[in-house]
Amino acid sequence: MTTVDASTPATSVKKLYERLQETTPIGRKRLGRPLTFAEKVLFAHFLQPETTELERGISYVELMPDRVAMQDATAQMALLQFMTAGLPQVAVPATVHCDHLIQAQYGASTDLEAAQVTNKEVYDFLRSVSAKYGLGFWEPGSGIIHQVVLEQYAFPGAMMIGTDSHTPNAGGLSMVAIGVGGADAVDVMVGMPFNVRLPKLIGVHLKGAPSGWTAAKDVILRVAEILTVKGGTGAILEYFGEGARALSTTGKATICNMGAEIGATCSLFPADENSVAYLRATGRDAIADLVAEHLDDLTDDPEVEQNPHPYFDQLIEIDLGTLEPQIVGPGTPDLGRGVSEIGAEATEKGWPTQLAYTLVGSCTNSSYEDIARAASIARWANERGLKVKSPLLVTPGSERVRATVERDGLLDDLRAIGATELANACGPCIGQWKRTDPAAEGVNSILTSYNRNFPKRNDGSANTLAFIASPEVVVAYALVGNFNFNPLTDAIAGELIPQPSGEKLPSQGFASEQSGFRAPPTDNSHVTVQVDPSSERLQLLEPFSPWDGNDLLGLAVLMKAVGKCTTDHISAAGPWLRYRGHLDNISNNLFLGVNNAFGSTAGKGWCRVHQAEESLPEIARHYKAAAIAWVAIGDENYGEGSSREHAAMEPRFLGAKAIIARSFARIAETNLKKQGLLPLTFADPGTYDLIERDDTIDIVDLASLAPDQPVHGRIHHANGAETEFEMTHTLSPTHIEWFRAGSALNIIRERAR
Ligand code: F3S
Repeated sequence: MTTVDASTPATSVKKLYERLQETTPIGRKRLGRPLTFAEKVLFAHFLQPETTELERGISYVELMPDRVAMQDATAQMALLQFMTAGLPQVAVPATVHCDHLIQAQYGASTDLEAAQVTNKEVYDFLRSVSAKYGLGFWEPGSGIIHQVVLEQYAFPGAMMIGTDSHTPNAGGLSMVAIGVGGADAVDVMVGMPFNVRLPKLIGVHLKGAPSGWTAAKDVILRVAEILTVKGGTGAILEYFGEGARALSTTGKATICNMGAEIGATCSLFPADENSVAYLRATGRDAIADLVAEHLDDLTDDPEVEQNPHPYFDQLIEIDLGTLEPQIVGPGTPDLGRGVSEIGAEATEKGWPTQLAYTLVGSCTNSSYEDIARAASIARWANERGLKVKSPLLVTPGSERVRATVERDGLLDDLRAIGATELANACGPCIGQWKRTDPAAEGVNSILTSYNRNFPKRNDGSANTLAFIASPEVVVAYALVGNFNFNPLTDAIAGELIPQPSGEKLPSQGFASEQSGFRAPPTDNSHVTVQVDPSSERLQLLEPFSPWDGNDLLGLAVLMKAVGKCTTDHISAAGPWLRYRGHLDNISNNLFLGVNNAFGSTAGKGWCRVHQAEESLPEIARHYKAAAIAWVAIGDENYGEGSSREHAAMEPRFLGAKAIIARSFARIAETNLKKQGLLPLTFADPGTYDLIERDDTIDIVDLASLAPDQPVHGRIHHANGAETEFEMTHTLSPTHIEWFRAGSALNIIRERAR
């Protein structure tokens, strides 16, 4: 067996650039104009560049990504599903990164040791499944997924999907990198295309160059303020201009990372000399040479920068030369202002001006440059005998960054003023933070260099008001412990803090190589995937059974959702995250958030077996045990929200045969199809109103199920009356095959046989 190489050999890069040179003229011809850089990358990854429909925001396109990256929380179900496909190895290079499950409490080494114990079974599973199926595996402590991907795998012009919303971080190295749910990752790992609506394009023209206190972070905080948290939805944010070329690769990654905060599909910078330098510094000379040779292919056509308006659905201009350092929050990243205004605004709004904690790091701001600039402030303070007035936690983004900032004395600079170093992991950025300070009891303010600041995100407490700024601004505020301060104009101990400084890349090179990485073995015949049958967190999946060829008759109505029924209503997150790798256990949350027309409170319904009100997952289990097939009824836009595949797998697992709704959110509809469930839409939305608690439903003539043909249904009312009705669907011939086989993965498994 040949193993898929988890790294990217230069030969693959060369092949991609040859394709880019073939597809770029096709794109120019089809659109009748020059191309932006994002368009060039998309054309190079379309399954069918000659015929793909190209209406932005409307057409669905099939893309062939170059790689997949997964973090430890989302990888569990994705890989459990992949295993049921019966393939010997992943179809594209893929990696798993253990970063989300490490809780921050005492400091790097103690917290890491504790995580190794607490999460042992999850790590053992991910390690063994990676070895078995040819994925690269990054041990806990090796770094945060997006920093590691940037250092090891990202390269200009490539495309990646990742099961984490900040996957677009790799856009800093000119990669179209999109955050997806596990179901999409499974598609790509089994060799199917990634299906997505063709994004709109928002151009961001950066003028001037940042100087002094202004950092890349301030660019994205300003963009978020301009576009708001929804302004990037369904769009690629494409940066260009002299300001873009003035930013380091890791600075650009900070900007692309936080595009997730405004809903962007991804964000992207064209390649430039900084990209080449970053590739060399991270030990990828052969790829750096190819990028240097192809720089013209890896940027916009020149006409775009000369007159950008015709190329974008929306255009923003930001002058980096006049941009003031920003602080955003609390609660949302689009509530921004300059540092000069935060003190007065906090006082006026009644937000605590004292800072209970300050935190530097997260995948957004944990690069060498970030820590170097933060450390320059700390060094100045230490020389004057100053210490932090608010506790300061610092997270390096990867072991490579940690070892380098340690060697270069930057961590010592931060420790000298009282900072505590955390493990190279997500920690407080994902709520993995055990706070014991008294301030956490009441309303308190914290300032971080992270990306998300919604209530409860960092420490699980709605009392904590989280604000965001650049790492150097965070350290400056740590020294005064208070928002009533402007680092640009106010003195500490009689002196102004000098402007932050730091190298973009370490002049002595990075200190360590690939620490914590396990390449898959060439011979995997001895590898057994480790799942303890008594585990409550992990469970091997059984393939769903195929359709038996009969019409679906006498289906019980489990629930009728009234109003919104998002993926959170269908499969809640929070404490249920623990069971993401255990379909049986996580199914105990099925529909718990749903406002059911036949229940007294959310998540409740009427059980026809026990003739009593029970929780919806309990009822579904009772029906499954009694072999009563059931259907769920949705209102408008059923399944909106995240792309979480559990929202489709759970009803399938507990015995649903179809979901009938007034309309579906597209990703949820596709996920249902993939799991072999029928997503059907009432041809007359008024039929929804006719369905009562004790009715049963027939779905008939399924032997002649065909694209664009209505499906016939019958409601048997409890009073003996019957109502005939029609349903529509969006099933293609392939989707109908999935239904017949029991799931999309069953088809792959059949073919693999
Ligand atoms: Fe981790 Fe926070 Fe980034 S959870 S992947 S550090 S957004």
